[in-house]
Amino acid sequence: MGCRLMPAVVLLLLLLLPSSVEPAAGGRRQYDAIFSFGDSFTDTGNNPVVFSWYNVFDIVMRPPYGMTFFGGRPTGRNCNGRLVIDFIAQSLGLPLVPPYLSHRGSFRQGANFAVGGATTLDSSFFHAGDPPGASPFPLNSSLGVQLQWFESLKPSLCKTTQECKDFFGRSLFFVGEFGINDYHFSFGKRSMQEIRSFVPDIIRTISMAVEKLISDGATTLVVPGMIPSGCSPPILLTFADADADEYDSNTGCLKEPNKIVMLHNSLLKDALQKLRKKHPDVSIIYTDLFRHISEMVRSPEKFRFRKDILSVCCGGSGRYHYNDSVVCGDEGATICEDPSKSLYWDGVHLTEAAYHYIAKDWLSTINLSARASS
Ligand SMILES: *[C@@H]1O[C@H](CO)[C@@H](O)[C@H](O)[C@H]1NC(C)=O
Ligand SMILES: *[C@@H]1O[C@H](CO)[C@@H](O)[C@H](O)[C@H]1NC(C)=O
Ligand SMILES: *[C@@H]1O[C@H](CO)[C@@H](O)[C@H](O)[C@H]1NC(C)=O
Repeated sequence: MGCRLMPAVVLLLLLLLPSSVEPAAGGRRQYDAIFSFGDSFTDTGNNPVVFSWYNVFDIVMRPPYGMTFFGGRPTGRNCNGRLVIDFIAQSLGLPLVPPYLSHRGSFRQGANFAVGGATTLDSSFFHAGDPPGASPFPLNSSLGVQLQWFESLKPSLCKTTQECKDFFGRSLFFVGEFGINDYHFSFGKRSMQEIRSFVPDIIRTISMAVEKLISDGATTLVVPGMIPSGCSPPILLTFADADADEYDSNTGCLKEPNKIVMLHNSLLKDALQKLRKKHPDVSIIYTDLFRHISEMVRSPEKFRFRKDILSVCCGGSGRYHYNDSVVCGDEGATICEDPSKSLYWDGVHLTEAAYHYIAKDWLSTINLSARASS
């Protein structure tokens, strides 16, 4: 099965060195383009545009964002350097995926529709019952909106249905990470039971997006699962007065948010398995964030991370070096000595070093599942 994929797969196997995500040698490319949907884990520069529509100040456009890469220049990435998607683009010999809303040049080699703060469900779901003057977040940049942007870009990429199928068949699609913002906007505001009740809606929305892209011609899609939210410093602070037994005593992470994420990941895997059965010629790849980050939290020394693994690198004073009123980018914020020794960069987001580890694994996962389907 997956005959059309085979050449790409073989090349990927040949070109990737096990421990490297450096640009592919030899200049031959497995994919012509990368198209990507998601949130701040994937956004390479759309959020400054979306935030400006709402006149919201965008802290990630200030130093020290970008300090480790991009010549220290903030790019809109919620990171000190590169994201997983950047490492993957580099290793596949493609340009860093250009942000759809701010890039002025061609999108022939891909487009990134991901927006920091984006939800899976439409933003109206979260604004129902908002009092006047409530926060504008989540902004109107959900998965559905990103798919509309993709739709409006399509005519500039290919003309006929066949031409589109050929082009998208040679492209690599990322659908997510999605889910973090749906849950993080809800933790502390809705009961765990209520949050649990809309997990299936989130999975259905992701699943429908994957099917829509398959109908457009996508033949390789990467669908990442969620992070362990219960280890995220901002979530740890949301539930700062939790009882001792609500924490995992080995990691210091909160059990209940992690259970919701595990439910999300497990339903997502089930949904992807159904899609694989329905579309046997399409390669649908689940990639992991939960297991990796959990492992980093449990055994920081394996990754040469500092022992106080739940502390952010860039932030204000307080527990976890995270402080709502002095966040990374603010004047009073301080930066850790060596960001490559930290898992968390500014709160929810990870450092370039952590993303680098994850990218290596995702590349091998892409490799392995490609092999499995051959
Ligand atoms: C959200 O954005 C989409 C796509 O740009 C647009 O069609 C829609 O009307 C917007 N919705 C709201 C509530 O602004
Ligand atoms: C957070 O920062 C503010 C402003 O600097 C400070 O007054 C407050 O004490 C900090 N909170 C903690 C828990 O350190
Ligand atoms: C991909 O698979 C091949 C064998 O099929 C293996 O030699 C290679 O190391 C793998 N690459 C990665 C990055 O895991």
